[in-house]
Amino acid sequence: MANDLSTDQIAALHRRATEAAHNSYSPYSHFRVGAAILLHADERQGGVIVAGTNVENASYRLTSCAEQSAIAAAVALYGPAIRIRAVAVANLNGAACMPCGACRQTILEFAGPETPVMYPAAGGGTVATTLAELLPAAFRLDPAAATSEAK
Ligand code: THU
Repeated sequence: MANDLSTDQIAALHRRATEAAHNSYSPYSHFRVGAAILLHADERQGGVIVAGTNVENASYRLTSCAEQSAIAAAVALYGPAIRIRAVAVANLNGAACMPCGACRQTILEFAGPETPVMYPAAGGGTVATTLAELLPAAFRLDPAAATSEAK
């Protein structure tokens, strides 16, 4: 794996992502996804893993992806200062499953560009990459630009 996570951390991330996928609410796509995020250790967060799953809706665009569910749960549990150390995605469909564009931007809100992201590859196996590889031209809000319109 091209990152500095321990084998135990990688195994735990994959296990937690897969466990979460078993709870998927996906009656429309039947694509059962789980995501696990390892949080950076600090005094309050001892390097914990938080997992999430996809939650679909009859109004399809209201669906929450697994990655977004995991991040929302982590913020609810540990507060707005969380930082993501690594992300793993799994699914129960034996399919390739990279984070969608919206999820990449959501991960970036709480993670640096070198953050490891692991996901099931096409044809089996796991891709281990970084957030910067997945989202090379991320949107970044320039606070000055955001407020200049109002002046
Ligand atoms: N999905 C995720 O949970 N994460 C992604 O990054 C991509 C897609 C879910 C959303 C939907 O419930 C199902 O996969 C099919 O798109």
